[in-house]
Order: sequence, then C-alpha cells, then structure tokens
Amino acid sequence: AEVVIVPTADDAGALVADAIVEVIRGRADAVLGLATGSTPLPVYTALRAKLESVDVSQVRGFALDEYVGIDPAHPESYRSVITREVVEPLGLDPRRIQVPNGSLEGIEHAGPDYDAAIAAVGGVDLQILGIGTDGHIGFNEPGSSFASRTRVKTLTAQTREDNARFFDDIADVPMHCITQGLGTILEARHLVLLAFGEGKAQAVAGAVEGPVSAMLPGSAIQLHPHATVIIDEAAASRLA
Ligand code: F6R
Repeated sequence: AEVVIVPTADDAGALVADAIVEVIRGRADAVLGLATGSTPLPVYTALRAKLESVDVSQVRGFALDEYVGIDPAHPESYRSVITREVVEPLGLDPRRIQVPNGSLEGIEHAGPDYDAAIAAVGGVDLQILGIGTDGHIGFNEPGSSFASRTRVKTLTAQTREDNARFFDDIADVPMHCITQGLGTILEARHLVLLAFGEGKAQAVAGAVEGPVSAMLPGSAIQLHPHATVIIDEAAASRLA
C-alpha cells in the first residue's frame, strides 16, 4: 500500500475528499464505499464544502456494516449514522445509499442481497476504511476469511468496549453485526484506509508491514493493487 503521513486528521480528510470529488467528476454515478465510526468524520466534513459545486444526484453509496437487531431508527444504528453524517450534510439521494439490513427478519438473505446490490451497480469505486484497535476492517474481526462475503458476525468484547462510547451503557451495544466481508471489500477499485492516534499504531503497523494474516484483517489491504493508507504521525509511530 501507498502510505501517506499527514500532520492532522483534517489534512487526511481534505486529501480523501479531493479524491472523492475526482471520482465523482469522472463518473456522475460513482459508487462510494462509506464507513462509520470516528475516523472518517473529517472526510465527510471536508467533502461538504468541496461538493457544493458538484452534481451528486447520481452518486451511490454502500456502508460497510450495521448492527444486527438494532432498531434502524436508533440514533446509533449505522443507518441513522450514515443518514445524519453523510447523506443529509452532503445532499446525497437517500434512495441511492444502502446500509446492510440488520433486521432479524430475513437476516439470512441480507448478506447475499447486499453483495448482489453492490455487484449490480458495477462495484465500489472508492472504499473508505477505518481500522479497529484489534486490526478489524468493517466488522471483520481477527480470524475472518479473506474470501468472506457480507454476513452476520459476532462482535468481539474489545469492539463492543470500543463502541460503548456511542451508547448509554455497554449492555446496549449489540452482540452481532452484519458486515461486508474481506472478499467484498477487496473488490473495491480503490481502498483508502485512515487511522489517527497512538491507539491505532499497532493495528496500522500490522496492516501495512505485518504478515498477511487473517489474525489481522486489515493486512488484507496488502493483497489489493490500489490501496492508500493515510495516517497521522501517532498512528504511524510503529511503522519501521
Ligand atoms: C465502521 C467500521 C469499523 C471502524 C473501526 C474504527 O463502519 O467498519 O471498522 O472503521 O471500528 O472505528 P473508529 O473510526 O471509530 O475508531
């Protein structure tokens, strides 16, 4: 992967926003791979200003993941988060933005349906990725197959702890999620992995320089022909 070290998360946000604008200018119906969590927020903030002069009416988006069994109207469902942080501020067409369906009803079809929806529009042009402290991308926790497709997974205790800050109580953090698989993610034409802060340094080093291993799902980016890693000094601190 190409590694770009920037002074601040806002600098990273500006770089990725420029790349996204370029993709949309090249193709009005560009397909964006969207991530939730704290990491991509500077991208969405930077995009807001840059997209003012760009026609986004045809842009499509696919989120990486969703909690299973959460009410879609819950403020921390990824459907709600994507609507609040991406769709509304950027003026995207909500009908063109998909999030995996985490409702229990029909959950056995939700993964294959999601992969089929991505394939039907020709795949993702640019996928934004964060990385978990345990090296997960999407919610593909350590041990996930590199060939995996969108499916239901169990969240690790570590990830539930990491995400408890978004909920009133850790007991409210769902136990399961539905996530694009590593195989699904690797099909995007350009992967852009972002990480900020010391807490991500170990995961970043493993993803970029460590052995390619299912025990560090982020290392899957080493198999991708066009992956860009944009990180701050703290997140880069364990690179050789
Ligand atoms: C989010 C996602 C996760 C996060 C990761 C980092 O859609 O799939 O992999 O990117 O958990 O989360 P933050 O950015 O909150 O540190």
